[in-house]
Amino acid sequence: MTVNRQWLIAGRPTGRPLKDSDFEWVEKPIRAPEPGEVQLRTLFLGFDPAQKGWMENVGGYVAPTEIGEVMRGSGIAEVVKSNSSLFKPGDKVMGQIGWQDHPTFAAKDLLKVEDNDLLSGNLGVLGTTGMTAFFGLNKIGKPFAGDTMVVTGAAGATGSVVGQIGKIAGCKVIGVAGGPDKCKWLIDELGFDAAVDYKAGGVRKQIKELAPGGIDVLWDNVGGKIFNDLLGELALHARVVVCGGISRYELGQMPAGPENYFNLIFKRATMSGFIVLDFMSEYPWARARITQWIREGRIKYKEDVQHGLENAPRTLMRLFGGENFGKQLLKVA
Ligand SMILES: NC(=O)c1ccc[n+]([C@@H]2O[C@H](COP(=O)([O-])OP(=O)(O)OC[C@H]3O[C@@H](n4cnc5c(N)ncnc54)[C@H](OP(=O)(O)O)[C@@H]3O)[C@@H](O)[C@H]2O)c1
Repeated sequence: MTVNRQWLIAGRPTGRPLKDSDFEWVEKPIRAPEPGEVQLRTLFLGFDPAQKGWMENVGGYVAPTEIGEVMRGSGIAEVVKSNSSLFKPGDKVMGQIGWQDHPTFAAKDLLKVEDNDLLSGNLGVLGTTGMTAFFGLNKIGKPFAGDTMVVTGAAGATGSVVGQIGKIAGCKVIGVAGGPDKCKWLIDELGFDAAVDYKAGGVRKQIKELAPGGIDVLWDNVGGKIFNDLLGELALHARVVVCGGISRYELGQMPAGPENYFNLIFKRATMSGFIVLDFMSEYPWARARITQWIREGRIKYKEDVQHGLENAPRTLMRLFGGENFGKQLLKVA
């Protein structure tokens, strides 16, 4: 192989869904590694709704993207050639390697990962996804045994881990997800206490019945009407964790704020957002703890693996229609 195939950013999908013309396919010669660099062969890419936001340059929490740069994204790769003392050929590494299949990369920006049965899990349950669930819940949601917790986007990569950590903490966990199959999986496989299919309607009424004492921990991944309905069902001293709001990521005009926010006053509740990157220095112990829970069978995870670098744009689009069932990955090699 002499060619590095890449997807470049070609458009800014602000206020609209992603489209094919937002990406440009190019093929470049593979670059030999200079001192401190390694040449890689990409094995897996991981996908996150935030990648659309990076293309739009919203939020300001990562460096701005430029049109014409390689599409940003995390990946796992094998070291093919090394000009660094940090890695040797055959090592498996992860990092923000972007949508390309034979990149040459600064070794210092990569992390060595173990080549075991959890290899692809480093992009999900042991990666940013798992870290988001772990730190967002423990530091902001602050679950106590006996709490009632509601998670939206519950069958997604982050939501499914959040709910299971909530169960480990001793909470009653109710998931809100799209469709009967996802809801059944949450209860039968992951041990959620209940699940509500938002696509069938009646979310607030069902939550009222399932959580008669109100919601102590509300984890929101989706925003919009579902979030507003759940804000109306908070318990006294509830903690509301604003992780994401995927229902607004494709909207041209932002909806009005949630009218039920006033319930925060009546319930003396707190609501906080967070960015997982703020906890990066603590990732190692969280990774160790989640690995232990996986080995003990207390955390289960699902991966939705698509194939072929040429399908990367389409794979990202799957997240916004709820086509993914589990952590969205793409197998490249
Ligand atoms: N704050 C942070 O640091 C941080 C870090 C990582 C991720 N996040 C956020 O966490 C959320 C989940 O990310 P993820 O990577 O784990 O993705 P994911 O949940 O695996 O995939 C996105 C899911 O969102 C649901 N969805 C899509 N459009 C929706 C809509 N209009 N209304 C309700 N649900 C909708 C779909 O599930 P259904 O089939 O159930 O509709 C889809 O599977 C995102 O909002 C993301 O931005 C935040």
